[in-house]
Amino acid sequence: MIQTEMSSDNPQRDKMGQILKAAERATNLTRSLLTFSRKQELKLEQFDLNDTIKNVEIFLRRVIGEDIKLIISLKEDNFRVAADKGHIEQVLMNLAANARDVMPEGGIFSISTDVIEMDETFIKMHGYGALGRYVVISVVDTGVGMDETTRQRIFEPFFTTKETGRGTGLGLSIAYGIIQQHNGHIHVYSELGQGTTFKIYLPLMQRDAHSSDVKISLQNQVIPGGRGTILVVDDEASVNDYLKKFLTDLGYVVLLARDGQEAIDIFRAQKDEIDLVLMDVVMPNINGSEAATEIKRLSPKVKIIFTSGYPYDLINEQKLFTESSRILMKPLIPTELAVTLREILAIPN
Ligand SMILES: Nc1ncnc2c1ncn2[C@@H]1O[C@H](COP(=O)(O)OP(=O)(O)OP(=O)(O)O)[C@@H](O)[C@H]1O
Ligand SMILES: [Mg+2]
Repeated sequence: MIQTEMSSDNPQRDKMGQILKAAERATNLTRSLLTFSRKQELKLEQFDLNDTIKNVEIFLRRVIGEDIKLIISLKEDNFRVAADKGHIEQVLMNLAANARDVMPEGGIFSISTDVIEMDETFIKMHGYGALGRYVVISVVDTGVGMDETTRQRIFEPFFTTKETGRGTGLGLSIAYGIIQQHNGHIHVYSELGQGTTFKIYLPLMQRDAHSSDVKISLQNQVIPGGRGTILVVDDEASVNDYLKKFLTDLGYVVLLARDGQEAIDIFRAQKDEIDLVLMDVVMPNINGSEAATEIKRLSPKVKIIFTSGYPYDLINEQKLFTESSRILMKPLIPTELAVTLREILAIPN
C-alpha cells in the first residue's frame, strides 16, 4: 500500500522493495518450516497419480521458466494411490525448483511414471524398498549434477550449497519426509556434470479383477479388503506404521494419531471423512477410553474398535463396549482385524 502511494521517483522506493522481498522470503521459510514439522497433517485421498501430475504441469512450467524444456510422459494406466494431493504436488514443485537452479542456461526437465514390482531382488540390488507394487515417478534434469559428498547429504534438513538467502536446504528434506509418510521411497542418482535423476516410489493400490474390494494375501491366506477411512491411534510408532501399511494395502485410507489428544484433534477436524476409529486403550496422558468419550461426544454414532495388550477382563471393567464398539486383543491377528473391520463397517460379503 505504501508503494502505491509513492511517486515513481521517490528515493525510498528501493527500500520498500527490499522490505517486500524480505517479507516474501520469511513467508516462504515459515511455510517450509511448517510443512517440515507438522508431519501428522496428511489428508489422504485415493486418486490417479497421472491426473495430479497433469494438474500441476502449468505450475511446474511457471517454476522452471521458459529456457527449460518440460517433458511429461505418463504411462497410461490407472495409477491409484492413497496420498495427500497437496503434499505430492509440493514434492514435485520442490524438485522443479531445484532443477531450475541447476540449469541457469536452460536444459530439460522431465517427469515420467511407470509401475514396478519391488521384489527381493530389487531390494537387495538397491539397498532400499519394501515388497509390493509401486508407482514410480522419475524426475530427471540435465543440470550440473552433484558429487558424492553432496549426494549423501541432500535430504538433510538445512543442507544447502546455495548462497545465504537463496536456499534454506529444506526443499528435499520436506520431499523426503512426505514420501516416507506415504510409505514410499525417494532415491537420487547423480554424478557431477551428468544431470540428476530422482525416483519416487509410492505404494500402488491394488484392485482385484473380480471385485471392487482389495484383497491381499498373507502366508497363503486371502485377507478381505474394504473401503473407508480409518483413524488409527496408538502410542507405539511401530504399531502405527504396521497398521498403516496393512490397512492401506487392504484398500482403506488411513489417518494416524499418536495419542488420545491427537486422536481427538484429528477426529474433530475430519469427523465427516472418518468411518471408524481403531484405538489402543492404554496410552499415556489421555487414554483410549477418555479419548473415546470425547470422540463420541463429537459424533455419537462413531464406530470404534479398541485394541489392547492387557487382559480382557481388566479392560472390560471400564465399560467401553457398546454395539458400535469392539475390542481386539494384541497382538492383532491380520485376518481377524480385516474381518472385524468389514463387520463393523457393514461391508457386505
Ligand atoms: N537437481 C539437482 N541437481 C543438483 N544438485 C541438487 C539438485 N537438487 C538438489 N541439489 C542439491 O541439494 C541441496 C539441497 O536441496 P534442497 O532442495 O533440500 O535445498 P535448497 O534447494 O538448497 O534450498 P530450498 O529448497 O530450501 O530453497 C541443494 O542446495 C543442491 O546442492
Ligand atoms: Mg530446493
